[in-house]
Amino acid sequence: MLNLPNLKSALRNHPRWFRLYDTFRRSALRLLPAPDYRQLHDLAAVPAALPRVCFQRPAVSVEGWLSDDEATALYVLARMTAGSSMEIGAWLGRSTICLARGLIDGGNPTSLLSCELAPTPENFRETKPGWVGFFYPANHLVSMGDCPVW
Ligand SMILES: C[S@@+](CC[C@H](N)C(=O)[O-])C[C@H]1O[C@@H](n2cnc3c(N)ncnc32)[C@H](O)[C@@H]1O
Repeated sequence: MLNLPNLKSALRNHPRWFRLYDTFRRSALRLLPAPDYRQLHDLAAVPAALPRVCFQRPAVSVEGWLSDDEATALYVLARMTAGSSMEIGAWLGRSTICLARGLIDGGNPTSLLSCELAPTPENFRETKPGWVGFFYPANHLVSMGDCPVW
């Protein structure tokens, strides 16, 4: 088994070298066969499997908050899932696509339920000078959480 070390901490002060090495490492790991998903039962094994996972990623036009590794992890976790799944917070659906592809490729015939608050600017207003709160529904009097405007 090819085992290329992750040198992120060793090359912390040399980001350019780390990026070069990481690109090489990821390309080399992609040459290895895909993980055997039937053998993947342990969550602790997921991170090591990520570089070897290939799946049909969402189109770049579907925006999301996910890194590539997070998208891959969602796909793998969905492939490992036997029952129904629920996603809280789909935003524009990038993570939903990763989950759905994992369920489909894993032959899971059960359902995926996804929900999203879909906030608009009306859901955000000032709570005190320099602070903005999230109100849901928009006319609610109590903020669900505040953060500094910056
Ligand atoms: C960081 S974004 C992640 C979006 C998406 N999963 C992705 O990776 O592209 C979090 C999303 O969760 C939604 N959200 C937060 N709390 C929620 C709740 N209680 N129910 C439904 N959606 C929620 C937010 O509106 C936001 O779109």
